[in-house]
Amino acid sequence: MNFDVAEYKGKIKRVVLSEEEIQRKIAEVGKQISEEYEGQPLLLVSILNGAFVFMADLFRAIDIPCEIAFMVAKSYYASTESSGEVTIKLDVNQDLSKYHVIVVEDIIDTGRTLSLVAKNLKERDPLSFKIVTLLDKPERRVVDLNADISLFTIPDLFVIGYGLDYDEAYRNLPYIAEYDQGN
Ligand code: IMP
Ligand code: MG
Repeated sequence: MNFDVAEYKGKIKRVVLSEEEIQRKIAEVGKQISEEYEGQPLLLVSILNGAFVFMADLFRAIDIPCEIAFMVAKSYYASTESSGEVTIKLDVNQDLSKYHVIVVEDIIDTGRTLSLVAKNLKERDPLSFKIVTLLDKPERRVVDLNADISLFTIPDLFVIGYGLDYDEAYRNLPYIAEYDQGN
């Protein structure tokens, strides 16, 4: 990460999704999930690091009993292209056969990370399995994978903020912005 503030701020090109737009949509989806899973054992599984901000807000928009768990799966490094390599470094503790599982993801880009994680989780026989993603970049997909709920579809831009990083920076922006890839 580069700690030069002027350079840091200069790379935030434009706001793609405001804090208000994001929060409004999360409230809707939280309500939808609360209605659909009422009376059922529900587990939200989020993939760190990117999805932790979305997870925190979606979790609080759900008003029924619900557990959370986190996974670490790496496929991205300092560049803006997927390396294609994915490894699970931290796993959930729960017995998934006792839960309806919803994977909470920040963004589906090529789909490589999530397709591997989804396959792994489904093999553990959850009562049901769904994927919720904050952002979807369908143009970039290289594997056959779709979210059950996608809050926003965006074009092929590199975005930062609301949990999403460029070289580990910008995760703390409360909105989603386009990262300026020019010099
Ligand atoms: P995929 O395996 O190509 O779908 O990559 C998914 C992961 O790549 C996400 O969880 C993000 O960490 C990262 N990623 C993909 N696109 C972006 C982007 O536009 N900005 C920041 N991170 C991204
Ligand atoms: Mg990520």
